[in-house]
Amino acid sequence: MKTPKRLQPLLDDGLIDEVLTQLMSGKEAQVYVVRCGEEVRCAKVFKEAKQRSFKQAVQYQEGRKERNSRRARAMAKKTRYGQKEQEQAWLSAEVDALYRLAAADVRVPKPYGFVDGVLLMEMITEADGHVAPRLDDVTLTHEQALAYHAKVIEDVVKMLCAGLIHGDLSEFNVLVDADGPVIIDLPQAVDAAGNNSAEAMLERDVNNMRAYFGRFAPELLDTHYAKEMWALYESGELHPDRQLTGYFELDSHIADVDELMEVIDDAKEEEAERQARIRGDDDDPDAPSY
Ligand SMILES: Nc1ncnc2c1ncn2[C@@H]1O[C@H](COP(=O)(O)OP(=O)(O)OP(=O)(O)O)[C@@H](O)[C@H]1O
Ligand SMILES: [Mg+2]
Repeated sequence: MKTPKRLQPLLDDGLIDEVLTQLMSGKEAQVYVVRCGEEVRCAKVFKEAKQRSFKQAVQYQEGRKERNSRRARAMAKKTRYGQKEQEQAWLSAEVDALYRLAAADVRVPKPYGFVDGVLLMEMITEADGHVAPRLDDVTLTHEQALAYHAKVIEDVVKMLCAGLIHGDLSEFNVLVDADGPVIIDLPQAVDAAGNNSAEAMLERDVNNMRAYFGRFAPELLDTHYAKEMWALYESGELHPDRQLTGYFELDSHIADVDELMEVIDDAKEEEAERQARIRGDDDDPDAPSY
């Protein structure tokens, strides 16, 4: 195909040898299939800031640390240069996340670098070499749904242990290859420790997966993996190989509330009796007098 303008510099530098086709265009980026020597890879070209949508919201960026201090100072100043640096930081968030997650043994596309706003990464394929389908495009058996769900939960736990929450996890951002689910699309990844929305984002991600796999294995709809893993994470007991149960004592709160209500009711009754006695309108002759 004709080389898209944004990929020309990579072609000129010899980082890619040929642009083969374009995959479907997402909301945030265009993804191309490219040839690098003998290998076929994906090149994700991010759209300009103004064309992008929700993922750049402040909510996602809270707690992100800028390791480059010159850039951090520029960003703080909100000058045009600062905005450019901010944009650069945003764009490199996905490649940073991919390197971190690959190191944490999470199944994500292997990153091959980030050049001129283009992310080069492993293309996830089916056994025959064709580009892998998204989770949303496949029909699962009951067993597959349970196995894939377990794998995604395992990966979300490893991500959380590496300090990250996906933030936009859904059946559209998980591909399926011969070995199972592969998580993609991470520019909005959320800092688990420094972001006030972290717990809510984790819950949304995990519950999206529960709803999707629950279509094929309805018993998953009764699980509470998000709450279980967040509680373990907060108490410092979550580690990458931790086996979860999907069970979380939601009911204990209700039991506690019931108990509390009984105590309150008893106290109210006692107080009413006391008031009645003070008013002297207790006409029970057997009642003790004070
Ligand atoms: N490494 C990869 N291997 C194979 N296909 C990929 C890969 N990365 C992306 N794709 C394909 O390109 C599509 C768009 O990629 P991605 O989700 O990363 O971009 P996006 O523009 O942020 O999407 P969204 O519409 O979710 O905002 C994916 O749904 C998937 O089909
Ligand atoms: Mg996507």
